[in-house]
Amino acid sequence: MIIKEGHGSFGMKVYLIETEEAFFTKVDELRGVDYVFQEFIETSRGRDIRVNIVGGEIVAAMHRSSETDFRANITNGGVASIIELTAEQKELAIRAAEAVGAEFAGVDLLYGDNEKPLVCEVNAAAHIRNIYNVTGINVADKMIEYILGKLS
Ligand SMILES: Nc1ncnc2c1ncn2[C@@H]1O[C@H](COP(=O)(O)OP(=O)(O)O)[C@@H](O)[C@H]1O
Ligand SMILES: [Mg+2]
Repeated sequence: MIIKEGHGSFGMKVYLIETEEAFFTKVDELRGVDYVFQEFIETSRGRDIRVNIVGGEIVAAMHRSSETDFRANITNGGVASIIELTAEQKELAIRAAEAVGAEFAGVDLLYGDNEKPLVCEVNAAAHIRNIYNVTGINVADKMIEYILGKLS
């Protein structure tokens, strides 16, 4: 299973728990800290998808994978590439951002059974530098365009 602290980025506060003993040790360590439990999606080990959304529309996406860690974060050793999203991946990412009321969002998707997309997390203040390096898309431009559009 996965234990994830409520506040953390770059995969640094996400723990893969493999034994009952490790579970109790981690829960003890995290006393006083907010955290969630998630099923570990083994079919997604070391790979995920980042989707950046602005105003309910997908503006950029990348696939991330790591050879060395169950976490695919680039800042944690993952390698990223451009991905063409399936209709199902697009729909789920948009719905996930909408579900938490995020006008700007970085949605992480995992690969379930038969590559079925699952929501990993939704970031309200998503990192935008790595996606720019990979896709050449500056999400900040899209955010500013969106804000100007709302103001006019
Ligand atoms: N439930 C899970 N099953 C499998 N892999 C996971 C799961 N949750 C997180 N991961 C992996 O760990 C990475 C970091 O987790 P995430 O929830 O995105 O936290 P962060 O906010 O630190 O990016 C994800 O990008 C994914 O590769
Ligand atoms: Mg993440």
